[in-house]
Amino acid sequence: MCGIIGYTGSREAAPILLDGLKRLEYRGYDSAGMALVGAGMLSEIKEVGKVARLEAAFSAAAGIDGSAVCGIAHTRWATHGVPSAVNAHPHCDERYEFAIVHNGIVENHHELRAHLLKKGYHFRSETDSEVIVHLIAEAYEGDLLAATAAAVRQLSGTYGIAVVSSRHPGLIVAARKGSPLVIGLGEGENLIASDIAALLAHTRKVIYLNDGDIAAIRPDSIDLRDVSNVPVEREVAKIDWDAAAAEKGNYPHFMLKEIFEQPETVENAIRGRISLEMGNAILNGLELSPRDLAQISRIVIAGCGSSMHAGMVGEYYFEDIAGISTSVEQAAEFRYRNPIIEPNTLVIPISQSGETADTIAAVREAVGKGALVTALCNVVGSTIAREAGRGVYLHAGPEISVASTKAFSSQVAVLLLMALLLGRNRRLSRSEGCELAREIEQTPELIRSVLAQAEKIREIAKRYAGFDDFFYIGRGCLYPTALEGALKLKEISYVHAEGYHAAELKHGPIALLDERHPVLALANDIPGRDKILGNIQECRARRAPVAAVATVGDREVETLTDDVIFVPACSRFIAPLPTAVALQLFAYYIAVERGCEIDQPRNLAKSVTVE
Ligand code: G6P
Repeated sequence: MCGIIGYTGSREAAPILLDGLKRLEYRGYDSAGMALVGAGMLSEIKEVGKVARLEAAFSAAAGIDGSAVCGIAHTRWATHGVPSAVNAHPHCDERYEFAIVHNGIVENHHELRAHLLKKGYHFRSETDSEVIVHLIAEAYEGDLLAATAAAVRQLSGTYGIAVVSSRHPGLIVAARKGSPLVIGLGEGENLIASDIAALLAHTRKVIYLNDGDIAAIRPDSIDLRDVSNVPVEREVAKIDWDAAAAEKGNYPHFMLKEIFEQPETVENAIRGRISLEMGNAILNGLELSPRDLAQISRIVIAGCGSSMHAGMVGEYYFEDIAGISTSVEQAAEFRYRNPIIEPNTLVIPISQSGETADTIAAVREAVGKGALVTALCNVVGSTIAREAGRGVYLHAGPEISVASTKAFSSQVAVLLLMALLLGRNRRLSRSEGCELAREIEQTPELIRSVLAQAEKIREIAKRYAGFDDFFYIGRGCLYPTALEGALKLKEISYVHAEGYHAAELKHGPIALLDERHPVLALANDIPGRDKILGNIQECRARRAPVAAVATVGDREVETLTDDVIFVPACSRFIAPLPTAVALQLFAYYIAVERGCEIDQPRNLAKSVTVE
């Protein structure tokens, strides 16, 4: 979704801001803009479309101060008002003294706009955001921080904003409520961004703003205030991701790079967290004693998109391995349907970014209801990680492709570790634990062997690239894996794909099957395989082309289906991992064949920070 980057220091700001915007492109956007403050003058430039267009326009523009050493920039993902240069951020007041960029939604913008119009302010855009800059102009009495504080006090909804003014060269004021902002600390320069990916080229030292925080950022100082305008100190966090991790390297797309990183990222997720000797998992971040663990009577998992699918795999783990009743909620549902939370309910919010609005709300609901909350996040210091208070990091490194791949596999791996820990705490014997621990340890190798078949998967994908409707079917842990496989395909190739429990096929979808509706059957050699073979026959009887994922050497599946992707033999608990990787590659190569824009699919955002 929308991205913010700001810079103040002694270097030329424009190239830094443009580079920062490019690193935010992955979040999804439709227009971009930049405001620079130099020599007591504020100038802005905005374009519809890619950052490259803004860059070209900037190079060609007259009247914009390219030597400015302070500025803010933004990528916009339209919510209020169509994608257009006028609606793009920054928004300036009428006299071009103040410029703001905003992430989030101002819910009371109608009232505020009416109030400002009455006072004679003129609006240029259709956005909710523009009210903020006029409110700042209205409140301004010489102190930009105070004016911004007065403006944001009138807002309801969510915001992450950055403000510059021609009256305060070198100063950026930033404020946050509900939309992430992080300050990057440099030497004689400082930055502000909505996402650390935009900062990595400059610094690893960051300060996350809390909701209600407001900051005055200058090249040599940071003045931080909380919601009551009291100066506060916030911890400086060190980010262990490097800039190269957020670059494509020799891969044509981030998605392919991230798919291929999975042996290492799953390794990172489990490293140091398995005791082969005790047949147990070691998850210190949970901060739950064996006694606390023993008291958990129910688990509720909340997440969105791929994170929710990972949670659905986790449901099988917790029930089957640990014997704990588990349910999975779409995080938005959790937030609105008044879930039953008892003191011994463990709530597990799952979020790669740690910034998904609905999942944040679910965390708040769960914390407010007194649940034990333990989050699974990839981004260290993200809102969910902080507000949950305890959790397990995925250590997958930056995931740039909008379609989640490596975060999903790490989430599944960590859920399996959690189930092992809870299982050992209850009904799992040491030898059963040891067996599972050994299997988990081998997962990176299994993934590697799927990746080694990329070319073969590509050949199969080519044969299916012309179809416009797919069904994915699976059973057990492979049912949510089927949902995830179908999601990958629709996200990046714009092909209609539905995941179904294989048993559900007969209750409706089968009515659609014919030679134009291929079925991808997850027929691994785990419990339920025989039933899937029956389902495959039913599909073939309706002339639907069938491709399967099967366990290496399964000749029966090979004879029954048109195409097979073989994955290594493994237990039902491990099977979702190599299978998901095969489905990621299948979706990727179909999207390549169809000429789709893979890393930034249309209409999608990496991190959905609004409801
Ligand atoms: C968006 C992304 C998905 C992601 C979902 C949840 O829809 O496009 O890839 O799975 O958000 O994101 P989270 O960061 O909370 O895991």
